[in-house]
Amino acid sequence: MSDTTAATAAHTTTVTAASDAAMRELGRSLAGRLRAGDLLILSGPLGAGKTTLTQGIAEGLGVRGPITSPTFVLTRVHPSRSGGPDLVHADAYRLADAAELDDIDLDSSLDDTVTVVEWGSGLAEELSERRLEVDIERHPDETRIVRFTGHGDRWSGALPDTE
Ligand SMILES: Nc1ncnc2c1ncn2[C@@H]1O[C@H](COP(=O)(O)OP(=O)(O)OP(=O)(O)O)[C@@H](O)[C@H]1O
Ligand SMILES: [Mg+2]
Repeated sequence: MSDTTAATAAHTTTVTAASDAAMRELGRSLAGRLRAGDLLILSGPLGAGKTTLTQGIAEGLGVRGPITSPTFVLTRVHPSRSGGPDLVHADAYRLADAAELDDIDLDSSLDDTVTVVEWGSGLAEELSERRLEVDIERHPDETRIVRFTGHGDRWSGALPDTE
């Protein structure tokens, strides 16, 4: 990865993405390790780069786009073009509580797809014990610090590289 640097511990990896392009590349490289049943919970302030990361994941998975910020539609399914898992992209920004997330019924597709929930912190954790939490921090110089925390053995060795 060209303009990214990182340091790794057990199930946690922190990566610096210096640009929009680096964020996308991070998503693409992560996608190579994702499989059906994976749940990613993205958090970070407005404009942190959650959708940009998801766009990279979508490219890496080879699903049909475009990946946009869901405004009125809370969930979109992006079918695979390559026989792999579909990508379910949800935005929980407007949801009040976990009960409203329940109504979207991500549960029913979780096992067969890769599910990415923006603003899912505090709401989506209960969906899966083997989730990957991705926290994006926005720095004044516009670089982003991306912290991956994998829950469950699934993520041992499956987090983005430190190269
Ligand atoms: N690593 C980065 N460095 C600099 N700019 C970035 C980076 N990642 C994303 N951006 C830019 O930041 C802006 C916001 O990105 P994006 O829409 O992905 O954020 P978001 O977290 O999804 O926002 P929202 O909270 O509205 O959902 C975009 O213009 C994008 O190009
Ligand atoms: Mg977004």
